[in-house]
Amino acid sequence: MQYQADSERYGQMPYNKCGKWGLKLPAISLGLWHNFGGVDDFENGRAMCRRAFDLGITHFDLANNYGPPPGSAEENFGKIMQLDLAPYRDELIISTKAGYLMWPGPYGEWGSRKYMLSSLDQSLKRMNLDYVDIFYSHRPDPNTPLEETMMALDHAVRQGKALYAGISNYPAKMALMASKILKELGTPCLIHQPKYSMFERWVEDGLLNVLDREGIGSIAFSPLAQGLLTDKYLNGIPEGSRASKSWGFLKPDQVEPAIEKVKLLNGLALKRGQTLAQMALVWLLKDSRVSSVLIGASSVKQLEDNVGALKNMKFTNSELQQIELILSGEKFAVKKSVPIEKIIKKEPAASKEKAVVQNTESTAPSRGDFILNLAKRTKKQ
Ligand SMILES: NC(=O)c1ccc[n+]([C@@H]2O[C@H](COP(=O)([O-])OP(=O)(O)OC[C@H]3O[C@@H](n4cnc5c(N)ncnc54)[C@H](OP(=O)(O)O)[C@@H]3O)[C@@H](O)[C@H]2O)c1
Repeated sequence: MQYQADSERYGQMPYNKCGKWGLKLPAISLGLWHNFGGVDDFENGRAMCRRAFDLGITHFDLANNYGPPPGSAEENFGKIMQLDLAPYRDELIISTKAGYLMWPGPYGEWGSRKYMLSSLDQSLKRMNLDYVDIFYSHRPDPNTPLEETMMALDHAVRQGKALYAGISNYPAKMALMASKILKELGTPCLIHQPKYSMFERWVEDGLLNVLDREGIGSIAFSPLAQGLLTDKYLNGIPEGSRASKSWGFLKPDQVEPAIEKVKLLNGLALKRGQTLAQMALVWLLKDSRVSSVLIGASSVKQLEDNVGALKNMKFTNSELQQIELILSGEKFAVKKSVPIEKIIKKEPAASKEKAVVQNTESTAPSRGDFILNLAKRTKKQ
């Protein structure tokens, strides 16, 4: 039977401005990196896309190399468009990227104009689309002038093959340079796609500030640390999970070292009446500089669980502090009254950026400030 989208699909999902631009993104977007390739069950991927759209997820993120094999996620998404979603094309934000290896020879990866524009043509063909909404440079290329890669993005937009330009995995300084070049070219940067989760916070050390100043939106990829920030690995590595698959990017040896923190975070999430996955997602969304969190999923059930996060997006300051404490790995040290200076010395350079807490007036302190405040309070008691 022909798919009919749920008429209530716009009832629950918040849509956030992407930086200063008019384009809004759903608070939760769906990525097709894993579970949509040629090795995966097509009907499962199709069911996830349909359910996602019914839940108000209007943004689907792809890249030329998603699969495996590379290109097959775009092919499958093209089929899903043809079977189900094509009538809704104007309600969808579809993105793709070029940067990683796609074909042999000197023009099959990185950031040359030759590669970027050929790759976009191939992506459009695989997805059977006239245009994508966002075309990204997937990674900075140390051997190609930034102007060349940015000129390729600008050209893609001028050709009408992409509506907006984006960058992914660019460190803060390079993102700023890219933004300036794109502005001069007349195709300002819409969005940056960095890896960002409770376990991966490099963006707090400058990138988010740059994006904020430049009016660029951000979409956090792997917000669940590829599944680590869920209850999935609490009792080992289950069969069929990403860490158990030979082609997955989450390796079994990444699981064990994270589990102690995962257990503590899981306990806190349950106290909040949420799953850990839900808490990890709204923890990112509390910062108004994060336009959307870009999840992956392997089942409709996971997708529904994740969208359920939006029912409780508020954090108390005490919850935020507990999360910082757990992530710092110093929970037990603080309890045993280790001098606070020792703890702070071990911290990486504390971010000066303040996270905005949604729906409350309070702000979350940086990790270093938080530990300092905690020590002051403990001394007073
Ligand atoms: N720009 C880039 O360089 C880049 C790089 C990577 C990813 N991305 C984008 O980001 C998207 C998301 O990345 P990701 O897949 O790593 O995101 P993620 O959301 O951190 O991880 C998704 C995985 O977590 C598990 N999961 C999700 N929800 C769950 C739940 N409620 N309960 C239990 N387990 C749950 C599933 O693992 P199982 O499969 O084990 O069930 C799922 O495949 C990608 O699809 C892609 O679009 C971009």
